[in-house]
Amino acid sequence: MKVFNSKEDIFNTIEGFKAQNKKVGFVPTMGALHAGHLALVSKALKENDVVVISVFVNPTQFNKKEDLEKYPRTLERDLNLIKTLFATNIIIYAPSVKDIYDENIEALNFDFDGLENEMEGKFRPDHFDGVGTVVKRLFEIVKPHNAYFGEKDFQQLQIIKKLVEKLHLSINVIGCKIYREESGLALSSRNERLKLEHLESAPTIYKILKKAKERFAKQSPKKVTEWVIKEFEKQKMLELEYFVIADIKTLKEIKRKSNKKVYRAFIAVYADEIRLIDNIALN
Ligand code: PAJ
Repeated sequence: MKVFNSKEDIFNTIEGFKAQNKKVGFVPTMGALHAGHLALVSKALKENDVVVISVFVNPTQFNKKEDLEKYPRTLERDLNLIKTLFATNIIIYAPSVKDIYDENIEALNFDFDGLENEMEGKFRPDHFDGVGTVVKRLFEIVKPHNAYFGEKDFQQLQIIKKLVEKLHLSINVIGCKIYREESGLALSSRNERLKLEHLESAPTIYKILKKAKERFAKQSPKKVTEWVIKEFEKQKMLELEYFVIADIKTLKEIKRKSNKKVYRAFIAVYADEIRLIDNIALN
């Protein structure tokens, strides 16, 4: 495992690997690594000769300053974890804010054909401009053959695919299944901040999603949505922010079902001040 802090150094190293015809996989992260991230790394290691993991808490994608400040930064622990689990063929890029942004810590403006305005985009203004900015920058530095993103952030995954399409980059964007605890709770760096009573309630989110999926087979999207809202009204520790059934291509909320389209249900919930997101394939 090699660790780089400078874009020039990592760029040159990766170019060296490419000159030897090695396939380069890339897993961008904000650190505080957990089994969900590691599942992406395992998949990437199977499909590439070398895997680059970036660890960078990107300031431009946080719409709340407090959220950025409180985001866990555990680089030493992350490096130890990777070293223990994966012996070879791993390169870490852990840059400073200056290495990525120089003096200009600002997001670019992107048009992702409206994908950026749905769900997370509504509740976290400018979030996807920040994500797009940093991922574009990281792609320019790493220039991977394959890049791995979790379906946990399904909207982000679709947006990255759109970014690659619009910028004509020759990178395969590969979506990876949501990694869950046995309880069903989707792993997230934010789970670490949950108080015990919220941690105990949080698996309810996935339980309700699974029941919503069953209902979707026989009920209208509106009926299912109304049922989910009612279920969350019964929850003392969880507050529903949104529940949306959407077409995976447009991410727009649907009113009617069609057999030809693929749908997912998306949810954002507050457990105290911690915001949790999840989603489930419906058909
Ligand atoms: P981060 O939240 O650290 O997530 C890094 C990657 O891990 C993302 O692709 C995310 O979808 C995936 N991931 C997180 N939890 C997962 C889980 N339980 N199962 C499967 N995959 C999971 O997403 C970001 O960072 C940032 O926005 C980033 C893309 C790095 C840009 O800053």
